[in-house]
Amino acid sequence: MKNKKYTIITYGCQMNEHDSEKISWILENMGYEWTENKEESDFIIYNTCIVRQNAEFKVYGQLGALKALKRRKPNLILAVCGCMMQHEKARKVILTKYRHVDIIFGTGNIHKLPQLINRYYQTNKTVVDIVEDNREIVEDIEANRKYTFKAYVNIMYGCNNFCTYCIVPYTRGRERSREPEYIINEIKGLAKEGYKEITLLGQNVNSYGKTLGYDYSFADLLKDVNKIEGIKRIRFMTSHPKDLSDELIEAMAKLDKVCEHLHLPVQSGSNNILKKMNRKYTREDYLRLIEKIRKRIPNIAISTDIIVGFPGETEEDFNETLDLVKKVRYDAAFTFLYSIREGTIAAKMENQIPDEVKHERFQRLLDTLYPIFYEQNIKFENKIVEVLVEEVSKNNEEVLTGRTSHGKLVHFKANKDLIGNMVNVKIDKVKSFTLEGYII
Ligand code: 5AD
Ligand code: SF4
Repeated sequence: MKNKKYTIITYGCQMNEHDSEKISWILENMGYEWTENKEESDFIIYNTCIVRQNAEFKVYGQLGALKALKRRKPNLILAVCGCMMQHEKARKVILTKYRHVDIIFGTGNIHKLPQLINRYYQTNKTVVDIVEDNREIVEDIEANRKYTFKAYVNIMYGCNNFCTYCIVPYTRGRERSREPEYIINEIKGLAKEGYKEITLLGQNVNSYGKTLGYDYSFADLLKDVNKIEGIKRIRFMTSHPKDLSDELIEAMAKLDKVCEHLHLPVQSGSNNILKKMNRKYTREDYLRLIEKIRKRIPNIAISTDIIVGFPGETEEDFNETLDLVKKVRYDAAFTFLYSIREGTIAAKMENQIPDEVKHERFQRLLDTLYPIFYEQNIKFENKIVEVLVEEVSKNNEEVLTGRTSHGKLVHFKANKDLIGNMVNVKIDKVKSFTLEGYII
């Protein structure tokens, strides 16, 4: 019998991408085969994100468009999972308006997918399975990883910070850390398989260990991961400025495998807005922290997340953000238009900012950031950088792309046999988002 085919469409962060790798592992163990093509799929899964409205709306649009395919192929199973399904309201929208969806599950019960599929076959009715409190950590799911040389590893789940704009604490639940032993064993296994780069994932990795019940911090974890033979690079995300300890800075400085890159979301440069966001630091705290980190690790690349148009953001507040990005001189930034998320505290705040103002400020922020990125990249001109080769460029088959320890994307001409290896590249051309060079 021909194998059934599946496809997964993933929205959102690295955490979701990694969840999709786990789903893929489960499905392939059930005999399903991957396809890019929805038309030839027997099983389509949407792994959703609810952090911003546009990600949510895209899923509704896509599901709507699949009605016709489902009519043509009644045996096609359509499943929706991920953060949107952890949110009651979004779940209700799916259940009432997109009744052709067959299976709905959340972020805490991916391991149950085979049972859910069976249940669907047995009952032929929509199956809904959500773990509301999300407290359990299930350790026995493996992942069908996208790459063979770099891997995501979850170290903790959930978030306790309740930034007022953010829906994550309501969907992914309270913060809980995985036991270090499991994390270390997973990474040792990856190292044995030839993985070179590990990215440790959590909503707020700096508070790793707090739920373990014994004294073991994120810095301790980094030290233990650094000892694993075969692993060459360690990355992590995301860090919260309020929890970034001196112990961690010291560990980053001393541990040879920890990359010279820190992603440290600032969200806003205005104290007034930071307070309303419940971020628990001031711009001065943030700037002092950056200074301290750069003093200890002078060449570190720093990237950030910034939200434009948070409720009540005045022109003055926004100028404080522009001023802060000029002072920090970021290497990269993810910039977002504030998006109202029902159920969060900020959604009820007065003075929501009109879309035109948000867009205009957003553009000004980009105009300020891009020359800074370029300036930060210029430092690499004529330098030799070590690159982990990742893939063939999407725009040019002869060009490979990879990343430096600083997280800089490098383009260079080489044979694709080099994918997965570390190579030295001399940089001869610099842009805002990429470095270009040749292998030496
Ligand atoms: N609107 C816009 N951006 C948001 N983020 C989180 N919630 C919202 C929202 N409601 C951004 C933050 C966070 C990143 C992952 O997404 O900048 O760091
Ligand atoms: Fe959301 Fe804030 Fe938690 Fe990050 S730290 S997931 S922005 S609540």
